[in-house]
Amino acid sequence: MTLRILVGISGGIAAYKAASLIRLLVQEGHDVHAVPTTSALRFIGKPTLEALSRNPVTSDVFDDVAEVRHVALGQRADLIIVAPATANTLAKLANGQADDLLGTSVLASSAPLVIAPAMHTEMWQHPATQDNVAKLTEHGARFVGPDAGELTGGDVGAGRLADPERIVREALAIVGDDSLRGTSVVISAGGTHESIDPVRFIGNRSSGAMGVALAKRALARGASVTLVGANLQVHPPAGADVVSVESTAELRDAMLAGANADIVIMAAAVSDYRVAGGSDAKLKKETLGANPTIELAENPDILAELARAERSNTVVGFAAETESEQDALIALGRAKLERKGADLLVVNRVGTEAGFGERETSVTVLDANGIVAAAAGTKMSVADVIMDAIAQHKETS
Ligand code: CTP
Repeated sequence: MTLRILVGISGGIAAYKAASLIRLLVQEGHDVHAVPTTSALRFIGKPTLEALSRNPVTSDVFDDVAEVRHVALGQRADLIIVAPATANTLAKLANGQADDLLGTSVLASSAPLVIAPAMHTEMWQHPATQDNVAKLTEHGARFVGPDAGELTGGDVGAGRLADPERIVREALAIVGDDSLRGTSVVISAGGTHESIDPVRFIGNRSSGAMGVALAKRALARGASVTLVGANLQVHPPAGADVVSVESTAELRDAMLAGANADIVIMAAAVSDYRVAGGSDAKLKKETLGANPTIELAENPDILAELARAERSNTVVGFAAETESEQDALIALGRAKLERKGADLLVVNRVGTEAGFGERETSVTVLDANGIVAAAAGTKMSVADVIMDAIAQHKETS
């Protein structure tokens, strides 16, 4: 679900952190509109906010008057996040003051309001500020932070802006659907490495982005998520239990340990083979000679093992294929779904310009009866469609 999110930024040193916040929200596939106060623009530039949000930025109520922008922004928002909120902005919001675009937008909106304050400890603890916080809470606003820690100028205490990842997670949880609350999800992501010797391995190009995107989508639906990450090249989401693995054998152990989860997703690119009798010592050119060969041994098929076990949960596999013809791609997928015994198979085309490492992807989701969903776009938006298909399957099975 793409949300229209208004990010209000007020004028404190932590305003620069709004850049990461906006980036994270955009990466999650949301439509983000930054509304800085005029003093925020002394800390962070408009071009930065426009580039990251991919939307025009204005802080003036008198811009785009014909569109009644001050009302439109607020009315159309699904969620408003004010980060950082200075003591002054808290005071204004608590009293419904509307002398700038942020103030008017908040007043014109009935969307959930999430506030992440940042200021010096004394200002935060002042009864006037605390009164404003209480009043805003009474009006329905949710606060994230502030955290305690080092503040600008070297002081230590409460007043640091909460971590942008946490702000995103807590804010999205408020508007996110609850369709997977109480559901446990185990997802493998990344690509396995098979050791040749202590310094070398056989690996693949999977970054883990798709599995991580699925983990974020499952978290946003209220699920408890375990992410089994094989050599991830992207950050796992805060809020997931992360088990880091390297080889297929380690991935298998971790997945079998989580096999009882309500939903099990094998998004990792698993090496079909390992090195037979890998070496504990570094292999030397001297002894290998000019044309060395590496003997491989077959790895167990983890997905098939999970799917063929006696179970009542939902097991989902992935199939990365280079086949460019759509019908042939689907035929490959259907054969693989049957061979593995999974409930759903997400078929995606990989190649030089699609799939591994790319932000954009296109997938088709199959069950035993055929195509149940298809999507193309950013991995985050595609992950949303996949998660819908999985949740739907779980509900109806
Ligand atoms: N998979 C697995 N264990 C393996 C190989 C693959 O669990 N040893 C899982 C992957 O995580 C994925 C699905 O099986 O969910 C399909 O992987 P893929 O590599 O496309 O299938 P393979 O069976 O390896 O078939 P091939 O490589 O011949 O296409």
